[in-house]
Amino acid sequence: MAQQYGRDVAPAKGKLGVMLVGLGAVSTTFIAGVENIRRGTALPIGSLSQMGTIRLGKRTEKRAPKIKEFVPLARLEDLVFTAWDPIPDDAYSAAKKAGVLEAPHLEPIADFLKGIKPTTAAFDQNYVKRLTGTNVKRGKTKRDLAELLRQDIRDFKKRSGADRLVMVWAASTEVFLTPGPAHQSLEAFERAMEQNDPAIAPSMLYAYAALMENVPFANGAPNLTVDVPVMQRLAEERKLPIGGKDFKTGQTMMKTVLAPAFKARMLGLAGWYSTNILGNRDGEVLDDPESFKTKEESKLGVLEYILQPDQYPELYGNVFHKVRINYYPPRGDNKEGWDNIDIFGWLGYPMQIKVDFLCRDSILAAPIVLDLALFFDLAQRAGLSGIQEWLSFYFKSPQTAPGLYPEHDLFIQQTKLKNTLRWLMGEEQITHLGIEYYEKA
Ligand SMILES: NC(=O)c1ccc[n+]([C@@H]2O[C@H](COP(=O)([O-])OP(=O)(O)OC[C@H]3O[C@@H](n4cnc5c(N)ncnc54)[C@H](O)[C@@H]3O)[C@@H](O)[C@H]2O)c1
Repeated sequence: MAQQYGRDVAPAKGKLGVMLVGLGAVSTTFIAGVENIRRGTALPIGSLSQMGTIRLGKRTEKRAPKIKEFVPLARLEDLVFTAWDPIPDDAYSAAKKAGVLEAPHLEPIADFLKGIKPTTAAFDQNYVKRLTGTNVKRGKTKRDLAELLRQDIRDFKKRSGADRLVMVWAASTEVFLTPGPAHQSLEAFERAMEQNDPAIAPSMLYAYAALMENVPFANGAPNLTVDVPVMQRLAEERKLPIGGKDFKTGQTMMKTVLAPAFKARMLGLAGWYSTNILGNRDGEVLDDPESFKTKEESKLGVLEYILQPDQYPELYGNVFHKVRINYYPPRGDNKEGWDNIDIFGWLGYPMQIKVDFLCRDSILAAPIVLDLALFFDLAQRAGLSGIQEWLSFYFKSPQTAPGLYPEHDLFIQQTKLKNTLRWLMGEEQITHLGIEYYEKA
């Protein structure tokens, strides 16, 4: 049977409201960046949706439009923003405190940023130990808090005149949780909220509120949040896209480029030691062992899945993999990520590779927030629901359908993303076979 191509995609008419959980370094760098780009004072560097092109058809056809011209994405001019945060700073003071962007990118848009004030948060210090917040909601039960969040969503939609909404979690990393009975069904989840069950983290209240209000939800932190059966089922039933976890920005992005190269060449790996120093609020939160554990799990999974030690025991059966994050205030948001990689080649002779990535965390994360907001909105208009595995490209620890292992290789993820866009628009998949250029019929 011929493969069916294409989906009906509703047009991106009207405004798209981007609801950010957390108004910290990543969120303010994203919002201020979009506003600078809209005013023509900066370029959307790092954003595949804005700068990327997509090849269509045969190489000889020379068709390669920009992605944003190929698929009907919301335009940057049509984005409106809101955020929740337990810290009451508006987007201007939060951006100043985060110390990522400099005056030329903040002062000309100061009034715009000051107009974005965080809504009171559903916040609980038991889940983020190193933060204290004053801008918080009060409610007797977690369910009350979830209902207040739902009201916030409805209020924002009305106030902003947004036609559609998406929610992105860009708030702190919560303590490590594993799926339990409270996460198995809607009934159990709602009961657990009413009983203030510790299995329900604040991030889950936002996700629940989003899904109940028909808003797609993307998770930029490694928290469990929507990676539980109840959220997956809710998203499928309500025809809503969800996805996560944890923006893939610096060190892990490099890891998912280098590890596939070693495997492609059948080079062995003895050990990979990754360490980071960073001094922003995220670093401070991750200094707490329980939040670090959540991050550690997210960062560690990558190599195991890419290298497949079961299939290549001689090459990858005994890898020592360590990830460290050290809070070091002088660096602020300018993280330094070091990797020492011990590989071995022909006849087992050892070699070493050192990577020293002097990156800027939020500069790498901001374009990911933009792309996720735009692609999740596209997914909803295209009728795609549940886990959006085609957006694994953006995540350190991609969610997949139950029983599937995640694909971590950045270039496989990129191919998957672009092939999904081709499929949506009724274009042929690109397999890179190319035999037709050589064997003319
Ligand atoms: N920057 C990156 O490269 C990167 C990469 C992957 C993941 N992340 C994750 O993205 C998130 C944001 O990073 P950041 O650098 O902006 O951190 P940040 O500390 O500057 O900002 C997070 C904000 O979330 C707020 N917050 C905490 N709990 C909240 C709640 N329950 N409701 C609403 N707001 C809440 C905090 O008050 C804070 O202002 C973190 O979880 C981080 O681990 C960042």
